[in-house]
Amino acid sequence: MNAPRRILVTSALPYANGPIHLGHMVEYVQTDIWARFQRLRGNQCVYVCADDAHGTPIMLKAQQEDTTPEDLIYRFSAEHQRDFADFLIGFDTYYSTHSEENRELAETIYTRLRDNGHIAVRTIEQAFDEEAGMFLPDRFIKGECPRCGAAGQYGDSCEVCGATYTPNDLKNPVSALSGSTPVTRESEHHFFQLADFTDMLREWTRGGHLQPAIANKLDEWFETGLADWDISRDAPYWGFEIPDAPGKYFYVWLDAPIGYMAAHRHWCDRNGEDFDAVWGAESDAELYHFIGKDIAYFHTLFWPAMLHGAGFRTPDGVYCHGFLTVDGQKMSKSRGTFIKARTYLDHLGPEYLRYYFAAKLSADVDDLDLNLDDFIQRVNSDLVGKLVNIASRCAGFISKRFDGRLAGELEAPERFEEMVAAGESIAAAYERRDFGRAMREIMDLADDANAWIAERAPWQAIKEEGREAEVQRVCTQGLNCFRTLMAWLKPVLPETAARTEAFLQCDPLDWDNAARPLLDHEIAKFKPLITRIERTTIDTMLEQSKADLAGNAGAEAPAGPPGGEEIAETINVDDFSKVDLRVARIAAAERVEGADKLLRLTLDLGTEQRTVFAGIRKAYDPAALEGRLTVMVANLAPRKMRFGTSEGMVLAAGDGEGIHILSPDSGAEPGMRIR
Ligand code: MSP
Ligand code: ZN
Repeated sequence: MNAPRRILVTSALPYANGPIHLGHMVEYVQTDIWARFQRLRGNQCVYVCADDAHGTPIMLKAQQEDTTPEDLIYRFSAEHQRDFADFLIGFDTYYSTHSEENRELAETIYTRLRDNGHIAVRTIEQAFDEEAGMFLPDRFIKGECPRCGAAGQYGDSCEVCGATYTPNDLKNPVSALSGSTPVTRESEHHFFQLADFTDMLREWTRGGHLQPAIANKLDEWFETGLADWDISRDAPYWGFEIPDAPGKYFYVWLDAPIGYMAAHRHWCDRNGEDFDAVWGAESDAELYHFIGKDIAYFHTLFWPAMLHGAGFRTPDGVYCHGFLTVDGQKMSKSRGTFIKARTYLDHLGPEYLRYYFAAKLSADVDDLDLNLDDFIQRVNSDLVGKLVNIASRCAGFISKRFDGRLAGELEAPERFEEMVAAGESIAAAYERRDFGRAMREIMDLADDANAWIAERAPWQAIKEEGREAEVQRVCTQGLNCFRTLMAWLKPVLPETAARTEAFLQCDPLDWDNAARPLLDHEIAKFKPLITRIERTTIDTMLEQSKADLAGNAGAEAPAGPPGGEEIAETINVDDFSKVDLRVARIAAAERVEGADKLLRLTLDLGTEQRTVFAGIRKAYDPAALEGRLTVMVANLAPRKMRFGTSEGMVLAAGDGEGIHILSPDSGAEPGMRIR
């Protein structure tokens, strides 16, 4: 075997002012699958990410919510981390660009670039809002398009005729912050002289680090010449102050990619690992960034140039993926297809989407579509109909007829060998990010295994005298095929793989041990490993998605002007009295098969009983809840979930860490109304 590779991978850092949605998840799922694959192959693969926590939109959103930017980014970070964890994204570290490590690294990189002569300072003219007391980013100025005259256009481009221009060109401009007419003011700005790196970048972008489509796109930019990049912003700004320029701050995109290094530094410090060995110019570790195609410019020009100019290594690969559409269209709030990660998770398990994305992802930059009918069909037919079917057809015979013991040899051992031989081609597909190809190869092998079992018909053979041993060997072959296929799917389906390991009572699966069959070995009783998706679940999710996002217009455009999102509105007593809060006795509490967050509660209201699914499993032992009084929302419309209908909601306090259900003071009785 080759020596293990040392690999660092990153996904783009999500902005800390909006929720994670299914579009984002394409990237985190893609990177996570690749990282898990590397680890299963025996390589060291560290996967870091962070929240992108600086910039004007975050500063303004905090102001609008009457809080500090620190508080805002802390809350979003907690929310993002919960979403990622529940999608089984296995970061080694999830950090923040607002960290000491990042400040230090940003200062180091800036200082080195300056000392090497790559920073220029010059005065520019910019729109200034006298009422708000700040310079206005392009997206915060609106006016009439200089070309077609359309009203209400942003300062960088016209949505009607497509013209691009600078805010100075807008007619009758107004500030989106205060509505006042901006004035022009001068200010000194710091520029990174990208053109100094033209030769280095030409070579790097053609050095096999990028997808061909991206490298070609970059040629267009080389032709027009690489322009200076404005890396400073005037106070007030939420970010790091530039060391030698009081009142000037690093533009958010300067310290954002440095956040990759900061997150890794943080991880290294905690794990006794060598940061410089990875980031130094002479590094022999591998470095890959996974990003969306919209941010290619930053990652394929500025970022390698910054690293190189400051004496660090450059990335081995920057890999772009396309954008997610839902049912063939851009995600839309009104259709309910702008689906937040959390909304999805309230209804469906993470592995369905991980599998679907895997099946659709390739190494290219094309957009990918989440077609909801195809999603249901593909998941049900591949995972339930093909994959798990192999195990469910064979397991019963082993438990009932053979005391749960696999045979000492396989029936037709050569067919197992043949299947195992496909492992390298599947690994190669994973390695080059052609996950769609890997999934197809695996499912073809699952088809073959099913066909073989059907041909050997153990259900027939078991009825015939003298064929017992053969049935045991056939089922042992079937279960071993299943086990190996599951090992190859483990990067995509880590939870199902863990359940498979428990069912087969075998060592954690990896590429290596998947090649050797389990023989003469006791397995546990088979329980369904994956359940089917129902269309009604999807419809309920879309409905909830619409409801979720009503009145939350700004979440889609984190870079745009504040849109009045997510402020807790004042309500009057009548509004409050619409909520029917009742004391309830927890008559029964039980775990829900296949949902590691949920408990199924039977709540006694004195006059009736309700079933409620509550996401409190990690905080409570079900037995300890039985008999307790709590508070429930009794008139919440019933909600269909994957495991049944939830008829209300239990109230609990939480900060993202703990969960604490409420209880009334002593003397309260089930059914009492709370006012
Ligand atoms: N904060 C920057 C990245 C800084 S990296 C140093 C940013 N954040 S983002 O939250 O807008 O996007 C994070 C990642 O999600 C980006 O790679 C982006 O391309 C990706 N996606 C956001 N919406 C997406 C889809 N609808 N579809 C696929 N990927 C999408 O950009
Ligand atoms: Zn126009």
